[in-house]
Amino acid sequence: MYVCLCHGVTDGQIRDAIYEGCCSYREVRETLGVATQCGKCACLAKQVVRETLSDV
Ligand code: FES
Repeated sequence: MYVCLCHGVTDGQIRDAIYEGCCSYREVRETLGVATQCGKCACLAKQVVRETLSDV
């Protein structure tokens, strides 16, 4: 599922970024560019990060 349409970032990519070492929403944003354009995806992106961090 696409989380960020502006940058074409999926929830899977967000999870992979966390498995590969990102440990905060900010790091995911800097790595993938998610939520750096229109910002509409910020809420959902944060939620995916939070959920993923709570089960790693
Ligand atoms: Fe993510 Fe626009 S949908 S910045």
